[in-house]
Amino acid sequence: MASNKLSFILSTFILVVYQCVIPLNAQLQVGFYNGVCDFVEIMIKEEVRDAFILDRGVAAGLVRMHFHDCFVRGCDGSVLIDSTPSNQAEKDAPANNPSLRGFEVIDDAKSRLEFLCPGIVSCADILAYAARDSVEITGGPGYDVPAGRRDGRISSSREASANLPSPALGVNQLIQAFANKGLRPDEMVTLSGAHTIGRSHCISFSNRLFNFNTTTTQDPSMDPSYAAQLAQQCPQGSISNPNLVVPMDPSTPTIMDTCYYDNILANRGLFTSDQTLLANPSTANQVIQNAQNPLLWQNKFADAMVRMGQIGVLTGDAGEIRANCRVINN
Ligand code: HEM
Ligand SMILES: *[C@@H]1O[C@H](CO)[C@@H](O)[C@H](O)[C@H]1NC(C)=O
Repeated sequence: MASNKLSFILSTFILVVYQCVIPLNAQLQVGFYNGVCDFVEIMIKEEVRDAFILDRGVAAGLVRMHFHDCFVRGCDGSVLIDSTPSNQAEKDAPANNPSLRGFEVIDDAKSRLEFLCPGIVSCADILAYAARDSVEITGGPGYDVPAGRRDGRISSSREASANLPSPALGVNQLIQAFANKGLRPDEMVTLSGAHTIGRSHCISFSNRLFNFNTTTTQDPSMDPSYAAQLAQQCPQGSISNPNLVVPMDPSTPTIMDTCYYDNILANRGLFTSDQTLLANPSTANQVIQNAQNPLLWQNKFADAMVRMGQIGVLTGDAGEIRANCRVINN
């Protein structure tokens, strides 16, 4: 009797929880390629590892690339497509060129997979797996990646510019940009934690160092000594120099930790879009929580990456399996 009652309560609870957490797309499956093309995930992990040994920056590049893929036409591999004489592709939008990196890792994984099981594994899935492996190899959480994405046939630089959030955005605009993709404010704060690895070009934050507005030269929400240091690394005359970069988390630039949130709390967030998370009580509270509880952040980050990876995916007969991630088929 007692156990019946308990199981009733439990199943009601599970039902309620289940109804509250509607997946963005239930058609993707963990282990999608099992039995069809085994070793897909192992092979991609190897490619990421080999590339990471040569250049640890590719991990940051691949995490960001997955984000930029998903926010423009969904996670359909459209960010990987090269421009043609008649089409300027996503990767050549100012938000992506010259900063986006890691394309060769996807190319290498794709050629190995095409040799092993031609026409089976989508470029969009390869990128989703590679982003997961990049999180893991930099010390972040491991997580299962639901797969079965198909590749899109359209890639537009204009759409990239319209959908990718600018680093100059304020917190309400960021919340809106993520809501447009079905992601919650807390997921926006959690995912921003990816800025604990990688680098930035000067142009992405120079607005905060020089000519902030007509009355102030520097952004008063930035720690003045950090601003002075950045102004030295990025002199006013060379803010567009594509060779000048700074680490986004100077303390541990290749480790997925929660220093990003500590930096923000010390007014050392690099972008307006980082520091502005303190401008709203609820997102500020999330910043504090994530800083205080790295394990909680890791779990939330893994969940949020899975949800981000489901945005606007093509499944079933939609789209195609590209033979070369850089060009649409025939
Ligand atoms: C919240 C809105 C976001 C804005 C405005 C933003 C903006 C930027 C900018 C401007 C850069 C530097 C690019 C450069 O100049 O080289 C950057 C780098 C990066 N972003 Fe974001 N980002 C956001 C969210 C995210 C999300 C959700 C992720 C992934 C989950 C992410 C992952 C990264 C990574 C890993 C880098 C370093 C890339 C590298 O080292 O090559 N960002 N981001
Ligand atoms: C310039 O920025 C400061 C700090 O955010 C602000 O107090 C001031 O009102 C701004 N001035 C103008 C003209 O927008």
